[in-house]
Amino acid sequence: MPVLKATDLGKRYGDIVALDGLNLAVEAGQVVCLLGANGAGKTTTLNLFLGFLQPTAGEARVAGRIVHDDPAGARAVLGYLPEVVQLYPLLSGIETLRYFNDLSGQPVLLPADATAALQRVGLPQAAHASRVGTYSKGMRQKLGLAVALAKGAQALLLDEPLSGLDPKAANELVALVRSLAADGTAVLVVTHDIFRAQQMADRIGIMRLGQLSELLDAATIDARGLEDLYIHHLRDVA
Ligand SMILES: Nc1ncnc2c1ncn2[C@@H]1O[C@H](COP(=O)(O)OP(=O)(O)OP(=O)(O)O)[C@@H](O)[C@H]1O
Ligand SMILES: [Mg+2]
Repeated sequence: MPVLKATDLGKRYGDIVALDGLNLAVEAGQVVCLLGANGAGKTTTLNLFLGFLQPTAGEARVAGRIVHDDPAGARAVLGYLPEVVQLYPLLSGIETLRYFNDLSGQPVLLPADATAALQRVGLPQAAHASRVGTYSKGMRQKLGLAVALAKGAQALLLDEPLSGLDPKAANELVALVRSLAADGTAVLVVTHDIFRAQQMADRIGIMRLGQLSELLDAATIDARGLEDLYIHHLRDVA
């Protein structure tokens, strides 16, 4: 059974079709990247998996549960990195982990487990006790992932995790996503970075006007070929 599954999933706002008949499955251990122009429906897709939006057609399932029947149950097994990671600047990295852990109703996070999660995402030891307000963008992204890790999420939903990262930080993030997948996590990543998508993904989807217009095996294409295909798909989108 896939961890994430969308079946004929759709979302409309009056005449605006944000997502139109999405069929997509992400298995445990698999990374799927979604590419697509601004407004193509990528964030809408993540928000439907998270139960932040009600679908107007079809269903999203997380670990077999229909999200709109049990949004809290779905979120309990999801880790989510939003487009803009919101953190409390006065909390340290460790305190942030514990805070989000408590919020999501998990058992108390032991200091050793918090440290292990921060190490796993590659946050330097010196930063663990520093206030998050002093973190760089890459460090904030890593902390966001550590929150998901500490939760033991079965699936991760990452909305543009690479935006604003320098090449080294982007490389580290790609490696981290691959290693989380190797441990069995299902990962759905929205990105505009074609090169990193090709490196990171097992499968790549190209979204266009609310539809998944292409879904391909990342091993069958190089970054150049993917860029050409992307431009081809988006050629007549204003
Ligand atoms: N609350 C809303 N009311 C009306 N239309 C909305 C609403 N939320 C999203 N939309 C529309 O749904 C479409 C899909 O938006 P979505 O945020 O999913 O795009 P996206 O692919 O994530 O784009 P981006 O790359 O800019 O983040 C857009 O046309 C957007 O304007
Ligand atoms: Mg978006």
